[in-house]
Amino acid sequence: MKRILALAMFACAALAAADLASTPPMGWNSWNRFHRDIDDATVRAVAKAMVTSGMKDAGYIYVNIDDTWEGTRDAQGNIRTNEKFPDMKALADYVHSLGLKIGIYSSPGPRTCAGYEGSYKHEVQDANMYAAWGIDYLKYDWCSASRVYQQADMQDVYTKMGNALKATGRPIVYSLCQYGLNYVWKWGPSVGGNLWRTTGDIQDSWRSMSEIGFDKQAGLEKYSGPGHWNDPDMLEIGNGGMTDVEYRTHMSLWSMLAAPLLAGNDISTMTEQTKEILMNREVIAIDQDTLGKQGYRVTKDGQLEVWKRELSNGDIAVGLFNRGPEPARMTAEWSVLGLSGEHEVRDLWAHASRGKHSDSYSAEVDAHGVVLLRIAK
Ligand code: GLA
Repeated sequence: MKRILALAMFACAALAAADLASTPPMGWNSWNRFHRDIDDATVRAVAKAMVTSGMKDAGYIYVNIDDTWEGTRDAQGNIRTNEKFPDMKALADYVHSLGLKIGIYSSPGPRTCAGYEGSYKHEVQDANMYAAWGIDYLKYDWCSASRVYQQADMQDVYTKMGNALKATGRPIVYSLCQYGLNYVWKWGPSVGGNLWRTTGDIQDSWRSMSEIGFDKQAGLEKYSGPGHWNDPDMLEIGNGGMTDVEYRTHMSLWSMLAAPLLAGNDISTMTEQTKEILMNREVIAIDQDTLGKQGYRVTKDGQLEVWKRELSNGDIAVGLFNRGPEPARMTAEWSVLGLSGEHEVRDLWAHASRGKHSDSYSAEVDAHGVVLLRIAK
C-alpha cells in the first residue's frame, strides 16, 4: 500500500513538473534594480504593486528574491534567513495571498555570488526548506561552485538540486544560472532545468542588451520549447539606462526569443511609459505563444535585422530591428519570410492594423528601434 502511495505521489509530481513553465516564466526579480538592497518590506511593496499596477493581470506572476536573503545555518544545518527577511514563510504566504508566486535564489557552491551562504552539501535540506516555506521558483547560480567542483561536474551538480526539488513533490520552477557555460542548452532539460541563462549578466545599457539579445542567442532557437527555455537574462526596462525606444526593442526582442519576462525594475514607482512597455498585451502574447517556438533572424543588412517567429495559430511575428544610430526605412519581404499572397499586417506597438499587403511591407524604424508586426496567416 505504501509503495502504491509513493508511486502515485511520484506520478503526480512528474505531471506537475511537466506543466511547469509551459510558456516562458513571467514575473519580477530583485537583482537588476535593488541588488543587495532588498528586504521583506521591499518585496511586499513590489508584490502589492504587481497587483495594483496591472502587472499580475498582464501575466507577471513570479516575485523572485535574488541574492542576499541568506543567513547562517542552525545546528542541524537548516538554512536560515538573515535579518532582512525575518520570516520567509510569512512572506511567501503574503505573496500567495495576492495570487502570485514566490521565487528564491541559491548557489551549488559554498557561497553565493554576493558571498552569502550557498547550498553546497545541503542540497536536499535546502530544497526541503524551500518547499516548507512555500517557494515556487529557484534560481541556482554557479558562483563559488567553481572553487569546489570542476566545470565538467556541472551536469551532476545541477542534477543533484534538480532531483532534490522534484523529490519535495512541490512544483518548483528550476532556473539554471551558469552564464551559458558548457553548452547548457544541450543538457539543461535533462537535469530538470526549466530555463537556463545563456550569457553573462545583462547591464542596463543599449550595448549590453543588444549584444546579448541579437548576437548571443542566434542559433540557440532549436534548444528552446515548452517547459525548457533559453534565458537571455532579466529585463532592464524602466531602470533608466536606456531610452524608451530602446526598451521597446528590449521587450520586442525578448518576446521574439520566447525569453522569460522577469521585470527588473521597481514596480511600485513605474512611469506610464514603462507600464505601457511592460504591459503591452499584444507583445506579451508573442512571448507567451503556446507553440513555444523561439524566433530567429532571417536577414541582416548591416545594422538592420529582420526576425521571424512562428505562432500557434499560423500567424507569424516579424521584428524590423534597426540597431543603427539613424532612422531607417525597412522592408519585410514575403519571399524571405516564407509568405505568399495577401496578408493582414498589424503593428503591435501602434496597436493598429496596417491593412492587407502582398509581397512586402515597409516602415520607418527609429534609431535603435523596432517595428513589431503580427502578420496573419
Ligand atoms: C550573478 C547572477 C546575477 C545575480 C547575481 C547575484 O552575477 O548572474 O543574475 O543573481 O549573481 O549575486
